[in-house]
Amino acid sequence: MSYLKTIPRQLISIIRYPRLFLLAKRTGRENRLGPGGRFYHHRHVHLGDSIYIAPGFHISAYKLRIGNGVQIGPGLLIECHDHSFSQVGKTLWEIRKIKNYAPVTIEDDVWIGGKVSILKGVTIGEGTVVGASSVVTKTLPPYTICVGTPCKPIKKRFNERELEEHLEHVPSSYTAEEVKALWMGAGL
Ligand SMILES: CC(C)(COP(=O)(O)OP(=O)(O)OC[C@H]1O[C@@H](n2cnc3c(N)ncnc32)[C@H](O)[C@@H]1OP(=O)(O)O)[C@@H](O)C(=O)NCCC(=O)NCCS
Repeated sequence: MSYLKTIPRQLISIIRYPRLFLLAKRTGRENRLGPGGRFYHHRHVHLGDSIYIAPGFHISAYKLRIGNGVQIGPGLLIECHDHSFSQVGKTLWEIRKIKNYAPVTIEDDVWIGGKVSILKGVTIGEGTVVGASSVVTKTLPPYTICVGTPCKPIKKRFNERELEEHLEHVPSSYTAEEVKALWMGAGL
């Protein structure tokens, strides 16, 4: 019943992307997907709740999981595969159908700026901010600010005391100790 109440908010998205809402593993609630986007491999998409994806996205998703409360700026590119490129004696065109796939995961409460590209096999950690025009080639730790090509964490979002307080107030898959360990692993 409560799900029915949330349908009007995403009705326009359902009309825009009917195959996604019909075929995806899960499409969540209160999700708004802007116009001019394109999904491929619908069956491998798993969306949480309260997701906003701005206009003009290209999502070629082999096992894409987007968590809850994720905001994504315009011009997003997600590519979950590369074409093979290392066979001697074959042109790239000849081997174009040999592809290497890997999943992409965007955890809860992430903000991704405009014109960001996310390549195969990465996870963007909970609560992380990805700066505009970044190219994400490796996994990004939670609760960090990450920018650039290749996209790297440049700073923590909070100091340690703020992080502990923050995690007492928001739903999280991490303990403060786990986040601190991941920060340390990223050299922050
Ligand atoms: C990342 C961002 C949030 C800024 O975070 P911030 O913590 O305030 O970072 P600062 O502005 O202090 O910048 C820190 C450093 O990162 C650099 N930087 C900031 N954003 C960057 C980006 N997108 N790409 C590359 N470098 C960037 C700054 O130049 C600065 O470098 P310096 O230390 O050499 O001077 C912001 O720059 C950004 O990209 N916002 C996205 C905007 C957007 O796309 N909005 C669409 C609506 S969804």
